[in-house]
Amino acid sequence: MFPDNLLSIEDLSVPAMEEIFQRAAFYKAGDRGKIYSALKGKNIVIAFWEPSTRTRVSFELAVRRLGGSVLDLRPDHNSEKKGESLEDTLKTLEALGADALIFRHGQPGLFGKLGQLIDIPLISGGEGCYQHPTQALLDVFTLMEEEVALSGLEVVIVGDILHSRVARSHFYALPAFGARITLAGPPAFLSAELAYPNFDYTYCFDEALPRSDVLYLLRMQRERHRHLFPAASAYAALYGLNIKRLASLKRIPFVMHPGPVNLGMEMDLGALHLLEKTYPDKVLIHKQIQNGVYVRMAVLDLLISERVV
Ligand code: CP
Repeated sequence: MFPDNLLSIEDLSVPAMEEIFQRAAFYKAGDRGKIYSALKGKNIVIAFWEPSTRTRVSFELAVRRLGGSVLDLRPDHNSEKKGESLEDTLKTLEALGADALIFRHGQPGLFGKLGQLIDIPLISGGEGCYQHPTQALLDVFTLMEEEVALSGLEVVIVGDILHSRVARSHFYALPAFGARITLAGPPAFLSAELAYPNFDYTYCFDEALPRSDVLYLLRMQRERHRHLFPAASAYAALYGLNIKRLASLKRIPFVMHPGPVNLGMEMDLGALHLLEKTYPDKVLIHKQIQNGVYVRMAVLDLLISERVV
């Protein structure tokens, strides 16, 4: 039921995702200090060529909680600096005895090629603008934990959709459980290649916002923009969550964000404070981070320890 590599949400069937969620709930219900044995004796290499806090630390904690050892490959200190190719690095890690690799890289399409070169699992921690499968899994798990019915759920994904691997993972994960997606953002971030037939599209956030059951704010990925477009203040005026927009709503949606939040762009501090004070059950951002550990424990357990070789 589980793939050799986890590079895309498309690698997982609905029953496989459901089993991941069940296992994540099991780990979440357990003793926080308990070390399990699912990865006992296994050496897991984590190598991130792009910055990360949540994904990297939660994968590290997940490996440790499952009794495995983390080998931290720092791309700025490995033999790539001496001309070693990424393919060679990969085969070297396998020859050294790594049991699985968890990679993040900026180049979309890379992991599909790398995964064919080795016989150990390759798990994506985020690949360019392509996919971030464990983020989508932990988001869906978080919604299910809130007992939100996903079938017919209106999810408005707003912002920098063009550059978002999180959004692209949700294009499969949310509809797989019956949720409906509306994409809202500036024209430059809603390009034709995103024209999935079953989604709604709008350049007008204020038109989409009132119908949202879940508002999924995307980080403006300024590091991937060739020009700083749109300007932060212009973006915030048209697409930022603020007190005025919240006050206009008859019904407050669940608010999610993969992090890190650019305060003053995707959401302003006033809106965050109002939500946390008045509607604390509706802000899921902290729960998303917490659930990252349990969902990644489940993914590693099911993909690595239960792997038939
Ligand atoms: N959501 C996410 O990928 O965050 P990090 O970049 O901090 O890992």
